[in-house]
Amino acid sequence: QDSPAAATVPAPRHLPDAQTVTAVTHWTDALFSFRVSRPQSLRFRSGEFVMIGLMGDNGKPLLRAYSIASPAWDDELEFYSIKVPDGPLTSKLQHIKVGDEIILRPKPVGTLVHDALLPGKRVWFLATGTGIAPFASLMRDPETYEKYDQVIMMHTCRTAAELTYGAELIEGLKTDELIGEMVEGKLLYYPTTTREPSGHMGRITDNLSSGKVFADLGIDPITAEGDRAMVCGSLAFNKDVMAVLESFGLREGANSEPREYVVEKAFVGEGV
Ligand code: FAD
Ligand code: A2P
Repeated sequence: QDSPAAATVPAPRHLPDAQTVTAVTHWTDALFSFRVSRPQSLRFRSGEFVMIGLMGDNGKPLLRAYSIASPAWDDELEFYSIKVPDGPLTSKLQHIKVGDEIILRPKPVGTLVHDALLPGKRVWFLATGTGIAPFASLMRDPETYEKYDQVIMMHTCRTAAELTYGAELIEGLKTDELIGEMVEGKLLYYPTTTREPSGHMGRITDNLSSGKVFADLGIDPITAEGDRAMVCGSLAFNKDVMAVLESFGLREGANSEPREYVVEKAFVGEGV
């Protein structure tokens, strides 16, 4: 006969493609990151995204695209997420705790991969908001530093607090056992804010077009011969950055046709 205590224990959930949450960090009211166990069968290229989610109230999986923020060699998977007020997934996902399960479809895809770019001397990672997630993966991948002499991470948000996840990640790279030495002197970080004073300000598009970022970092302007770029932000951001990159002579590439730059949407819609 069941004891009263046993009767209150919830039935075990059997999510399809379930993975267990191992860590959660809240960065701001609207941003958090979390880590989950990695399916043994999952192989991915740094920069790719997968579908993740939770079981919906209707008993069907509620899935969204998420860039994998951890590098391909990591034992776990990391994600960096927005909290959309009333967002079907993130209004629930923001409450996950260590030990909870999420659904993760192990079919990685995406264009922000080294294979989609022709060889070059420098690579530019250009991101707004949560668009830094694929670069959080690529910046932690030794292949990035084997392929390029210099890696320039430009990340722009409205406020300084929104830059914290990226800033701490990059700070941590310097002392990282695996790639600390590779990163030294090769990774240049150029964070900016647009709606709050900070060390560097302005939109990525403006700082590239005006040449301010080249002057501030003491590096040569972008050329089609030496420079490669990966772009991840809102639709409007992506469109405007593409125009700037094209003005430097870079052309959009793809997995099937590597060229000088590649683009991925950080989300679909107008933003929150
Ligand atoms: P949704 O109904 O999906 O979105 C509601 C609205 O919120 C959208 O119309 C848009 O206006 C806004 N919005 C959604 N996501 C964002 C965002 N990231 N930043 C600003 N505004 C947003 N989201 C992440 O947080 N991290 C990721 O790594 C990530 N990777 C993605 C990769 C790809 C290729 C795509 C297409 C999307 C990615 N997204 C990512 C967005 C993600 O798929 C969901 O849209 C997001 O989790 C919100 O889900 P939701 O169901 O709560 O709201
Ligand atoms: P701004 O504050 O000048 O609009 P959002 O939170 O709206 O997604 O924006 C994230 C960051 O991206 C903000 O700093 C914003 O600057 C910048 N941004 C938004 N749209 C563009 C664009 N079309 N070109 C360049 N930067 C953009």
